[in-house]
Amino acid sequence: MLAAVIAEKIFRDAENSIKKAEDVNLIELRADYIKDFELGKFKKLIVNCKKPLIATNRKKDEGGCFKGNENERVQILKKALEFGAEYIDIEYSSGDNTIIELTKNKKNSKVIVSYHEFEGTPGNIEKIYNNIKKLSPDFIKIVTNANSVTDNFRIFDLIKSSNKENRKIIAFCMGSYGEFSRVLSLILGSRVTYASISREKASANGQLTADEMVNHYRIKKLNENTKIAGLIGNPVKHSWSHIMHNAAFGKMNFNAVYLKFRVDKLREFIEYFKWLNILGFSVTIPHKIEVMNYLDEVDEKARAIGAVNTIVVKNKRLIGHNTDCDGAILALKAKTGLKGKNIAVLGAGGSSRALAYGLKKENADVIILNRTIEKAKVVAEDFNCSYGPLDDLKNTDYDVLVNTTPVGMYPDIGSSPVPPKLIKKGSVVFDIVFNPYETKLLKEAKNKGCTTISGFEMLIKGAALQFKLWTNRNAPEQLMRSKVMECLKNACN
Ligand code: ATR
Repeated sequence: MLAAVIAEKIFRDAENSIKKAEDVNLIELRADYIKDFELGKFKKLIVNCKKPLIATNRKKDEGGCFKGNENERVQILKKALEFGAEYIDIEYSSGDNTIIELTKNKKNSKVIVSYHEFEGTPGNIEKIYNNIKKLSPDFIKIVTNANSVTDNFRIFDLIKSSNKENRKIIAFCMGSYGEFSRVLSLILGSRVTYASISREKASANGQLTADEMVNHYRIKKLNENTKIAGLIGNPVKHSWSHIMHNAAFGKMNFNAVYLKFRVDKLREFIEYFKWLNILGFSVTIPHKIEVMNYLDEVDEKARAIGAVNTIVVKNKRLIGHNTDCDGAILALKAKTGLKGKNIAVLGAGGSSRALAYGLKKENADVIILNRTIEKAKVVAEDFNCSYGPLDDLKNTDYDVLVNTTPVGMYPDIGSSPVPPKLIKKGSVVFDIVFNPYETKLLKEAKNKGCTTISGFEMLIKGAALQFKLWTNRNAPEQLMRSKVMECLKNACN
């Protein structure tokens, strides 16, 4: 179930926000936020709320802002029960007597006994869970901060053991390392996840909005059979892959969700996730090379390029692929032939390697030009290309120019890796940077009558290939394109 957290300072706003929270199953009313608190108005909110309501009156040391004394705080929860709130949430730290007293008064309502830790995930979390269990609450809620991706695993293990015992648990992690757990925990058997009604109104670190939960992650469609896919990287915050892939899963009625995993400990992450219901992963900076050590198999292309950006899971075996290469080649081939063409590739990193591999397979003549010539030499030798310093572009007669450096990428949008005078009239210019859609290099190339290709095309083609690898179905490319385009437009505004 998805709960919208109503954390408003005045009653009128709380009332309006409850009305606006249409897409959720539950309302969590944070009484501790309300500054003009009056019992009469509190009652009205509870009675008039059309959805089941969790009344919460959080104390300061558990992330709340209630100003009165402990007795006053508990009395408000007691009143919430009297007014017919479907749930109350009482902190485990309130003490056994308070919890027992409230439980006695609950009538048809349900009591959630909660534990929050904002600094990390304590070593004794299982013990805390077992202690709460002794009070036999209707729901045990455990929320900790993830300081590493591995902290989530302890919480997931708690969910698994409580499911085995047929206990109702609500558990997930806060913070950027825990963000994905707000979705994944539901699939694993946690009963409720919480969302804010807008970004500005988030009441906890890493909390997503109800709109993101419903429209990006399709939270209402997920169930225990949902297959898991996602992006492994660090950072992952600014990626839009989840928007594109989840829209595609939705359109194709494929029971899967795509999450963003901020991963610091890659080996541990792979070890743990291997045993979940995984469809596959995308892999990004800084894990594309290291991840190869933890896979059961790496295909020939990814091995030659020396990097994996896609993992497919088949029969619990993890197989590494590289779709950067095919994504780029498809984007190029949509605009130009490659056989026998002279192609200048700027940069000598992972993307340059993917391009060099693909272009050579298409029988093109490739020169690698890079700021650090030693790196250009390595790529050139590995893929049978020529090489030189960036400056050699002025002596290079090319049909196609490809930029694989990050120069010109947002926010550095005023830069170009090439002075305009070195852009050859009538050539094809491909910039793998996708944000902005049209980089300075591409704008200047267009002014010279060149055919231009945005990195956006490579992004979409690469993602479509990943989708096909995971699902064995053709990706709804147009939809994926329009979803990312929307994000690009919003990012520019
Ligand atoms: P990716 O995996 O996306 O290719 P990478 O491996 O970090 O990223 O490679 C980035 C490439 O862009 C490198 O070749 C880098 O040049 P160096 O080898 O000299 O580091 C190049 N690059 C990055 N910033 C650059 C800049 N400001 N000007 C020119 N080249 C740059």
